[in-house]
Amino acid sequence: MIRRISMELKIIDERDVSKLRGDALVVGAYEGNRFTEMAKAVDVVMGRLLTALAKDLDFKAKLGDTIYIPSHGKKLKVKNVILVGLGKKKKLDEDGIRKATSSSLKKAKEIRARDIFFEPLGEGVLGGRCTKALAEGALLGDYEFRKYKKDNEKIDIRSVSILTDKSREGLLKLGKVLGEVTNFTRDIVNEPGNAITPNELARIAKELSEEYGFECTVYGLEEIIKNKMNGILAVGQGSKNPPTFTHIAYRPEGAKSKVVIIGKGITFDSGGLNIKPERSMKTMKCDKSGACAVLGIMKAIGEIRPEVEVHGLIPSAENMPSGEAFRPDDIITFANGKSVEIHSTDAEGRLILADALIYGSRIRPDIMIDMATLTGACVVALGSYTTGLFSNDDNLARDLLNLSIKTGEKMWRLPLDEDLRDEIKGDYSDIKNVGSRYGGAITAGLFLKEFVGKDIRSWAHLDIAGPAFLEKPWKYYAKGATGVPVRTVVELILNLNVG
Ligand code: BES
Ligand code: MN
Ligand code: ZN
Repeated sequence: MIRRISMELKIIDERDVSKLRGDALVVGAYEGNRFTEMAKAVDVVMGRLLTALAKDLDFKAKLGDTIYIPSHGKKLKVKNVILVGLGKKKKLDEDGIRKATSSSLKKAKEIRARDIFFEPLGEGVLGGRCTKALAEGALLGDYEFRKYKKDNEKIDIRSVSILTDKSREGLLKLGKVLGEVTNFTRDIVNEPGNAITPNELARIAKELSEEYGFECTVYGLEEIIKNKMNGILAVGQGSKNPPTFTHIAYRPEGAKSKVVIIGKGITFDSGGLNIKPERSMKTMKCDKSGACAVLGIMKAIGEIRPEVEVHGLIPSAENMPSGEAFRPDDIITFANGKSVEIHSTDAEGRLILADALIYGSRIRPDIMIDMATLTGACVVALGSYTTGLFSNDDNLARDLLNLSIKTGEKMWRLPLDEDLRDEIKGDYSDIKNVGSRYGGAITAGLFLKEFVGKDIRSWAHLDIAGPAFLEKPWKYYAKGATGVPVRTVVELILNLNVG
């Protein structure tokens, strides 16, 4: 299994800054150089050096700005003090804490500090969830995909200690789980298509299931044929790496509700016979991001074990052009009886998701959520940092939108506009797999809706084509995979646990 050694994250119940021994202490300031209580205490011990330096360097305490002062253990036992900007006090939110934490750690690495203390940034304003946000920010911000690099230069953060109350242990644990499973997701997404094939995704699911005691069924080519999963079959037929369909099930006793999550698992999207141009094909290893999110979410569920039944479904194929590939004009009939004419082999995601949505509907969940790097049109509409949210349930949409503000995994709702339904009407079949140039994210959503069972009241489709994989660093994320929308979906499931 893909594993990484991550930093140690702990709580130390100590407010007296003169007692700390380590490489660096991070304290905060709000805009206008309003130091936090702990920053003031440090400043006093250091004979107002912090105030003087902030002035000299024109430090404005903008969110994520940092300065540092070496103390060489003279006034303080801790070797360095890092002052981090928290921005405007009124504007600070959970995601701001992630960002401030992550930039503090970047500064810490710059000065080769490895054991770091943090005051509980933002706690005065936002309370206990800050400890959780700080843990997430530390883990997410520290992440880099380095597996294939032999750099020895890298300085690893060894420990992050938060100076707060032991009563925050539970929140720290939750933040740690969320950060770690997100990085686990990122690790798999960042692996290229020659390392992660549909079989490999299934193998990781099996391994994960063994670790957490989940049921896990992997459907190979034969079972895919037997179960009439003809979308997966068609998309996968052009590749020498055969497709798979994986079902992971967590069924705790006394579960209050049932959730199905589905993730698009195209391990590489060349476009198929409608081959992509060079500039859009590069990075298409990211087309399995939804599937990897399912794995990450299931890992979190295994760690936390809520009283919610959760099923993770991963339809997976490699979309390649070859003499055996599916073609434009092909007509595929799905297990729910609907026929689909192929207008572009590059609109493959919706075909494999259709099989999974039919299968998922049969589980009769209370909530069904699919996650997919589905359309470039969604990125055109919302930009690179926002997930397109589609839903047949206003309550579910509202819950996801509210959570997304807290997690910083930005989402925006787009309509399932029935007036566009005509665009996917087939010429020789019930439906076709592409609409017109306009509203491409929406017609993709409408296509998926055709495969959601009529009795599924609460379905959401998350188009993560933009934020799943970044061309350049953003916020606390490095370039590459972000693990979006793992944290939001895990929090949604945990809220069902509460009632
Ligand atoms: N995997 C792509 C969508 C995508 C684009 C993901 C950019 C991540 C970043 C998807 O399979 C695709 O090719 N969609 C086509 C649909 C079109 C043929 C209707 C697209 O968006 O161009
Ligand atoms: Mn495609
Ligand atoms: Zn795709």
